[in-house]
This record gives sequence, C-alpha cells and structure tokens, in this order.
Amino acid sequence: MRGIAVRSCGISVPDKVLTNEDLAASLDTNDDWIVERTGIRERRVGGVTSTMAIDAGRAALEAAGKTAADIDTIVLATTTPDALVPAAASTVQHELGVVGGAFDLNAACSGFVYGLVVSAGLIAVGSRGVLLIGSDSLSRITDWDDRSIAVLVGDGAGACVIESVEGPGDLLSHNLHSDGSLRRLLTCEHGGYLAMDGKEVFRKAVRVVVESAEQAMADAGVTVDDIAMLVPHQANLRIIQAACDRLDIPIEKTAVVIDRYGNTSSASIPLALYDALEAGRVHDGDHLLLTGFGGGMTWASAVFRWSA
Ligand code: ACO
Repeated sequence: MRGIAVRSCGISVPDKVLTNEDLAASLDTNDDWIVERTGIRERRVGGVTSTMAIDAGRAALEAAGKTAADIDTIVLATTTPDALVPAAASTVQHELGVVGGAFDLNAACSGFVYGLVVSAGLIAVGSRGVLLIGSDSLSRITDWDDRSIAVLVGDGAGACVIESVEGPGDLLSHNLHSDGSLRRLLTCEHGGYLAMDGKEVFRKAVRVVVESAEQAMADAGVTVDDIAMLVPHQANLRIIQAACDRLDIPIEKTAVVIDRYGNTSSASIPLALYDALEAGRVHDGDHLLLTGFGGGMTWASAVFRWSA
C-alpha cells in the first residue's frame, strides 16, 4: 500500500496589483463596499495560467529539495487553460522538464482539493511523485465593466510536491461532490465572461462547505480541536467567517489571503496554505482541513497531515 506525503508548497502571482481604489476609478463601486461585502482589498491581474503554474511548480520543487526527475505526473487544476487544446499542463510539463503524464483538471474553485485526491489515486497505483498545481487567470474571463464580478477575481498559482510513501500516508479523508442541477449559478461560455448568481452561490456555499468539512473530519476520525488549520477556498471573507462560525473553528486557525488576492479559483487554497506555512502557522504532523466550492456546483474537502 502506498500513500501520499505533501512535501512543499510554492506560489506565483503576477506583479500587477489592482486595488479597490483602482477599480473605483472606472466602476460604480468603492473600497468600503468591497471590503465590507467581500473582505478583498486588492488582487493581482495579468497572469498567464501556464506561466504562473511553471513558476509555482518550480518554487514547490525547490522548496521540497526535488527536481523534475522526482515527478512523473503533473496535475494542473485550472478553469482558465491558455487554450482549449493543448492542455496548459503540457506546456508546464515541457518547461519544467518532467518526463511523464500531464493533464488539466477542471472542477472550478474546488479543483485543488479534487487534484489532491486524484494525486493520491495516482500514487496508489504506482506514481512516484506528483506535482499538483492550481493556477487560474480569472482576469482573462472577466468583464471589467461588470462590477458584480470585477471586484471579486484575481490571478495566481500555487503548487505542492506530493511524494509516494510506504503505508497509508497522510491523506486521512476526502469527499468530492458535484450537483449539476446548480450549473447555471456560475457560468462562462466559450469566448464569454464569468456570470453568477452571487446571492445563491453564497447561500449554497456556506451550507455545502460546512457539511463537507464535517464529513471529512468525521471520516478522518478527528474533531475540530484536532484541526490545526482550516484552509478554505477564498471567495468571500463572509463565506469563510460563516463557515468558521458554524464549524466552531476560530478565524485564528484559518488561512486567509482573500484580502490580498481576491478569488483566484483553483489557486486560492495553495496560496492560503503557502501563506500559513510562511508565517510559521503550520508544523510537521499538523492536521489540515482543506475545503473548496465553485462552479458546477462542485465542492470538496480533505483532511491531511502536513509532513514536509
Ligand atoms: N460595488 C458597489 N455596489 C455593488 C456592487 C459593487 N461591486 N455589486 C453590487 N452592488 C450593489 C447591488 O446593486 C445592491 O444594490 P441595491 O441594494 O441598491 O440593489 C447592493 O450592492 C447589494 O448587492 P448584493 O448582490 O445583494 O450584495 P451581496 O451582499 O450579496 O454581495 C457578492 C454580493 C459579494 C457577489 C456575494 O453575493 C458573494 O460573494 N457571493 C458568492 C460569490 C462566490 O462565492 N462565487 C464563487 C465563485 S466566483 C468565481 O469563481 C468567479
């Protein structure tokens, strides 16, 4: 039996910062509304999905003390591949010099948690090392004249090196969900822009995140007291706070970067994880609870032990 160990995290964000004031200069919005309703203060824009994924992947390899030779599969969670064909993962595979498989995975903002579970499956059937990346450039599919979306999104990427280890490994539980009857709540047609029913997404998100996180903790045989850090998808600070309240997890035990990056879809969980690691808030052996939700609707949670 072979399980996973998550060895490192690396990130990449574009240099260009777009503040709430910048948006208010061209849209009927203001800093107070955006901060109060979303918790977002600024976001990065101008990223290219594959480029950010390459940089984040390289950073994760370096942080783990690994090279491309230690990786045999790249799993790239993204909703915004550079093109429909080829997969952005193929560009990343080539640029990083990985020999093996590479594919994109689209589960919208739940993509990173889906990717973690897929990585564990690959390792269970013999993969030695997986580079799991979440990279999205939502700025490319945003109508910057639409204040209902423009204030929410940003670009970024985060990556983890996942290694095969003897025994059950560090992924203690997971659950994946999709309810396609809710697919109209969040859409982007070919060549079009993101559109969503924000209020309904908000309502559903809080409920499914709480249910899925509780299920993941129960399946892992842990309670909230055993969770060192909740790493949620970053869509709206109010969603994170509502979920924390219902789960009885203090915000101090939660990784939050939405103020700096906005909603970066598949990248938001690794961006938040990296921030918590850099701040020294995560230690070897800690139990982490990841939870994501997004278009589809999809949602997913996982409990794993950090063991860099
Ligand atoms: N600036 C100023 N005012 C605004 C803005 C804005 N950017 N957007 C809306 N308003 C106005 C509305 O017109 C409305 O005015 P009215 O009362 O005169 O009609 C008022 O502010 C309140 O609008 P609501 O839509 O009710 O605001 P709400 O509190 O629901 O917040 C938001 C909207 C932030 C979108 C929230 O519903 C949300 O975060 N939903 C979930 C989004 C999400 O999680 N999406 C998932 C993924 S998104 C993705 O992948 C891109």
